Amino acid sequence: MLTGKRITLIIGGGIAAFKALDLIRRLRERGASVTSVLTRAGAEFVTPLSVAALAGEKVFQELFDLNDESEMGHIELSRAADLIVVAPATADLLAKMANGLANDLASTLLLATDKRVLVAPAMNVRMWQHPATRRNVETLARDGVLFSGPAEGAMACGEYGPGRMSEPLDIVAAVEAALAGGPLAGRHVIVTSGPTHEPIDPVRYIANRSSGAQGAAIARALAALGARVSFITGPATVPPPAGVTVVPVETAAQMLEAVHAALPADAAVFAAAVADWRVVSAATGKIKKTATGDLPAIELAENPDILAQVAQMGADRPALVVGFAAETDDVLENARAKLKRKGCDWILANDVSPETGIMGGAENTVTLITGTGEESWPRMAKEAVAARLAEAIARHLEGSDGG
Ligand code: CTP
Repeated sequence: MLTGKRITLIIGGGIAAFKALDLIRRLRERGASVTSVLTRAGAEFVTPLSVAALAGEKVFQELFDLNDESEMGHIELSRAADLIVVAPATADLLAKMANGLANDLASTLLLATDKRVLVAPAMNVRMWQHPATRRNVETLARDGVLFSGPAEGAMACGEYGPGRMSEPLDIVAAVEAALAGGPLAGRHVIVTSGPTHEPIDPVRYIANRSSGAQGAAIARALAALGARVSFITGPATVPPPAGVTVVPVETAAQMLEAVHAALPADAAVFAAAVADWRVVSAATGKIKKTATGDLPAIELAENPDILAQVAQMGADRPALVVGFAAETDDVLENARAKLKRKGCDWILANDVSPETGIMGGAENTVTLITGTGEESWPRMAKEAVAARLAEAIARHLEGSDGG
């Protein structure tokens, strides 16, 4: 049910716009109110009158409609909603969104909104498969935009393939999932993930074997419980999850800066395998071999400890700071010492000896060490570790509110 939920529905121009009428009906049946914005192209396919009749509300069309600006400006329109839905989302609308263009009411409110956005793309199969659209979709997914479809099938243009807009009931299900709440609704959690790359020269770098799989799984699990997740990731081999805000970084210094920019947060999970050292002054040109066989002298400096900095900060410190301890020897002793030294609240100890296959693998064996106890979890998929951790975080935050 969507009782009391407010949806702003942007109807783009496309033959699928007629399905938006059914979508309005289905959303209202479930108790949502629907404020519609009809783009100029959308109005070529459905009339403002039919949209207004189904929505039971005035339809917004023009950015410079002074009446509307005084009653409800575009900023207000973009923020009063619980969710913005774009259906059909044309290739043009996706391109505008991905590039931050704001030249009409729909694109302006999409740029101004602080709410989650769910898009239901609809376009010709070749347009959907075009590299430009692929790039835009990737950018939007990284920005945390949610997608419903497109579906595969026969299209109005006579071609067959992906590009058909999702059916209204599928979009409704995606809306319900996006608004499902969950125990972490309204919470902001920062997750660092992946390795960092520390440049030696423009073509070489220091790195490690982290795939980013555990961090991505944690971000996905937190988002599934309703959290707003800032996912700050080094160059990982696994793709970032959908539905989180992705901040790609390369070096430890950039990761630290991105973490500070993402604060404040209710909790922070530091799953990144940050390189401990960086090259003091990376060469600006490629370092060449010398005729005499002299080896290059590479001077290292220690990277800032991001976890320790955040755990020991004052006013903006998240209520719960969680670290990982990747160890090969004396796993628990080292992890306990790390918890104290860094000042974090919880630490997940894991044995990353090569024979465990954990680093870069699909499973993990962790012990959760908190200030008050230790829990050894059996070896399980990284997704399962993530789900268990996300639930523990939700319980802890609920408890710390006195709830
Ligand atoms: N970490 C961090 N910034 C760093 C180094 C580590 O935020 N510069 C975080 C990691 O994300 C992890 C925790 O600190 O949550 C521990 O990382 P780990 O590599 O196990 O420990 P180190 O501090 O690097 O200590 P050592 O290499 O001596 O084991």
